[in-house]
Amino acid sequence: MVPTAPQGDLHAAHGSTPATHGMPRPAAVVVLAAGQGTRMRSATPKVLHALGGRSMLGHAMTAARELDPVHVAVVVRHERERVAAAALEIDEAALVVDQDEIPGTGRAVQCALDALDARAHAAVAAGLDTTAVVHDGGEHPLGDGLDGAVVVLAGDIPLLDGAALAELLDAHHADGNAVTILTTELEDATGYGRIVREQGTGDVVAIVEHADATAEQREIREINSSVYVFDAAVLRRGLGGLGSDNAQGEVYLTDVIASARAEGGSVRALLSDDPMLVEGVNDRLALATLGAELNRRILADWMRAGVTVVDPGTTWVDADVELAQDVTLLPGTQLHGATRVESGATIGPDTTLTDVEVGPDATVVRTHGSLAVIGEGASVGPFAYLRPGTVLGARGKIGTFVETKNAEIGAGSKVPHLSYIGDATIGEQSNVGAASVTVNYDGVHKHRTVIGSHARTGADNMFVAPVAVGDGAYTGAGSIITRDVPAGALGVSRSQQTNVDGWVERRRPGTAAAEAAARANGAGEGSDALGAQAQRELAEHNALTGAVPVVPDDDAGSPESSESA
Ligand code: UD1
Ligand code: CA
Repeated sequence: MVPTAPQGDLHAAHGSTPATHGMPRPAAVVVLAAGQGTRMRSATPKVLHALGGRSMLGHAMTAARELDPVHVAVVVRHERERVAAAALEIDEAALVVDQDEIPGTGRAVQCALDALDARAHAAVAAGLDTTAVVHDGGEHPLGDGLDGAVVVLAGDIPLLDGAALAELLDAHHADGNAVTILTTELEDATGYGRIVREQGTGDVVAIVEHADATAEQREIREINSSVYVFDAAVLRRGLGGLGSDNAQGEVYLTDVIASARAEGGSVRALLSDDPMLVEGVNDRLALATLGAELNRRILADWMRAGVTVVDPGTTWVDADVELAQDVTLLPGTQLHGATRVESGATIGPDTTLTDVEVGPDATVVRTHGSLAVIGEGASVGPFAYLRPGTVLGARGKIGTFVETKNAEIGAGSKVPHLSYIGDATIGEQSNVGAASVTVNYDGVHKHRTVIGSHARTGADNMFVAPVAVGDGAYTGAGSIITRDVPAGALGVSRSQQTNVDGWVERRRPGTAAAEAAARANGAGEGSDALGAQAQRELAEHNALTGAVPVVPDDDAGSPESSESA
């Protein structure tokens, strides 16, 4: 396996450390994910569409977890099973809450709060530690359930990160607010809820949905991002009194603002100067726009952390990828999933790696790979295809037009040209000749090829698995290896060559080939030698079987040795 970077260079750039600094833990984060997302025009629920290698739900839950909340609740309804399964895969401790048939963001949060309160009660009943979660007596007996800050966010705001949430939570606590709303100003605020502020104080009086807004209110450019911090008790009381007397006939979460103010709480907004950070995705155009922006931000983080990105415009790096200092990404590189690249490695150009570990100082050129491990100083490509289970040792080589799968290729071993190596184990410092194939499939089962260390296999070999080639063994070019080759032995299997002298001049008279042959052989020669030359060659060959030409690459990878086959 790839060694870990010495000074913890990895994990450095893109949000993986908790964003909170001694703030009170929020009691819960509620992620709203029950909606269909009609404008995506998709069989896939909106929150499961992905950018930066993560679903939007994944982005929301990742940001949520950075606050270290006591609970994470995810509200589901549309495509319930798929969204719930995705939520639990991201965080198995998440509380999946079903929204009932009553529509609206207010109803969604109400369902979540009921479930969270029930969970808090259960925790108290079980005598679990519920510090900062529930009231334990006094004015707020157990009947109230959850206590503290409740963060609510829509599941379709992919660029929102833990830092932004932490800032919002900070402001909420610092100002002692009942409700704190994350807002931004947009050139075109069509479709969004508008923030109506009080003259003088700047406190938020109301959020008016686009559909319900007056012409004058529609001039307001400050919008609700659907990211909030509520005091749990304020939220509980507010949700209890919500109706659905509005243009959409839905229970609006935004109506909690009026009740919070009515009971004397302060409602304030934190205005972000970064619209894209808080922008929601409603259609696939926004998905692409925010996907490109997310990528730009991820690359910027890595460049600040010491990664060279030659062409950010053609380089795509998923949010969960880890890169060490002094990695170089050449144009056309895409790194996906849990890919990790160690210091000094160069990837690209035109390389796509998914869940691949690349060791220090390795080079990976024009390669497509997944679930593979590339050792320190190893070299891959150009034009290599690394399928799952490929493990290339230190300073090993998987060269040009080579496909590998379930293949361990030991330290210093090389498969330089035009080969398929599947279900194979190759020891150290061995060389596999050009155009070789592990014949691993009998039509029903897969079988393994084992090649030892310091072996030299000839070009154009078929290893008909299961088969083994021992340490230090050689095989002849063009061999079909069906039986094990013992350590140190030479395995050869091929038909012998026959030369039919004069054949071209006799059978293809008048051709350029025949004329060239006549010139080369000299006048009168070759025409009456039929069979004699062949006989001679055969005899020579038999005498020389101890010196069958074996033509693997040498360690320097000199091309002529392979070509001489
Ligand atoms: C909402 C806000 C609006 C804000 C906008 C930002 C309300 C009433 N309006 O409007 O002020 O500017 O987001 O994008 O809150 N959801 C549920 N259950 C539901 C309805 C929605 O879980 O019954 C979820 C959706 O899955 C989504 C989020 O809530 O993740 C927002 O829903 P959406 O329908 O997009 O709300 P908007 O009309 O955009
Ligand atoms: Ca929306």
